[in-house]
Amino acid sequence: MTSTVLAIETSCDETGVAIVRKDSDTFAVLADAVASQIDIHAATGGVVPEVAAREHVQVIGPLIKSVMEQAAVDSSALDAIAVTVGPGLMPALSVGVNAARTLAYAWDKPLVPVHHLEGHIYSALLADTNELDASLLPALALIVSGGHTQLIMVSDHLRYEIVGTTRDDAAGEAFDKVARLLELPYPGGPEISRLAVDGDAGAYDFTAPMMRSGDLDFSFSGLKTEVLYTVRDMDPKTLDQERTSLAASFQQTVIDALVGKTVQGISTFNPKSVLLAGGVAANTELRQQLVTAVEGENVPLKVAPLNLCGDNATMIGQVGVLAFEAGRTMAWRDIDAHARLTIAEFGQEKAPPKAGRWGKRTNDYEAG
Ligand code: KG4
Ligand code: ZN
Repeated sequence: MTSTVLAIETSCDETGVAIVRKDSDTFAVLADAVASQIDIHAATGGVVPEVAAREHVQVIGPLIKSVMEQAAVDSSALDAIAVTVGPGLMPALSVGVNAARTLAYAWDKPLVPVHHLEGHIYSALLADTNELDASLLPALALIVSGGHTQLIMVSDHLRYEIVGTTRDDAAGEAFDKVARLLELPYPGGPEISRLAVDGDAGAYDFTAPMMRSGDLDFSFSGLKTEVLYTVRDMDPKTLDQERTSLAASFQQTVIDALVGKTVQGISTFNPKSVLLAGGVAANTELRQQLVTAVEGENVPLKVAPLNLCGDNATMIGQVGVLAFEAGRTMAWRDIDAHARLTIAEFGQEKAPPKAGRWGKRTNDYEAG
């Protein structure tokens, strides 16, 4: 069986459109385009949802046209339109969902709703090979981004259970907030990892959050406060001198928590593979230290390729085409954006619910 989907991702500050084809167990990306809004949000030090939505509106039409041209297909080559329905910023999500809904109506195609974190999971699961490999399941996925920090058991394709989550800030959010304390530009993750290379990771003894909590949950807001207390009494000259070591010590503390809980998860659940994905998975130290730790556990590790760590539509198309073949389709009338959406519930059913079924609709941004 061969299927082809057009995929759209607008949950936060990247507009992504891609065309993905699945032929038996092999996936091919026929076209992919991402428009980043980082420059715009750097000016405000973070993402303003309405500003993000306005930008998505500006670029989504041209991106759709451009990927259709890149892939040299017209609508008759498409079996379905896949779109991220949540979680994310409501105004931003709505742009993608409504674009998808319009195309589905105009072209008479089914819609495939995709959970944003499913996309991140499959960017790691399909890494290197672009093939479905049943021997990797069940998998334990560490998903770390600006909005999410979760350990998820993927029991089977498109079936998920959350086994660990952050109690407060996401890991990427902690990177961004600490970067602000160190007077670095947004987004802070890449800045901190760049500075950390020249710093002493043992210079500051920050606390790895929740390491002895006995469960697989994370907490990063206390760590951010610890950094705040450390830097607020520093004069500008000392801060300048200490910035690299503060960055390295903070980064190492976050990595200790992420790697430590993943190793704990391996012994609890005995997965056949471990997956790493999400924006923070672009962090070189995290990638290297997780490789070393997981090698010690004798489980294969699959890491999302760097170009798919940040938000993109290729990952949404990969899930979308798989879910399409599994029968997860909706009509244009029924699909809706959900700011809050848990992946566990999403994975229970072939088709996600109609508008409003998953709790109240809200404008809050909260990780699923
Ligand atoms: O997946 P993503 O693009 O968007 C969300 O779904 O949230 O992740 C963005 C996050 C930001 O918080 C950014 O600071 C972080 O990923 N990030 C990094 C690195 N590159 C991006 N964090 C640590 N080290 C990096 N190299
Ligand atoms: Zn993401």
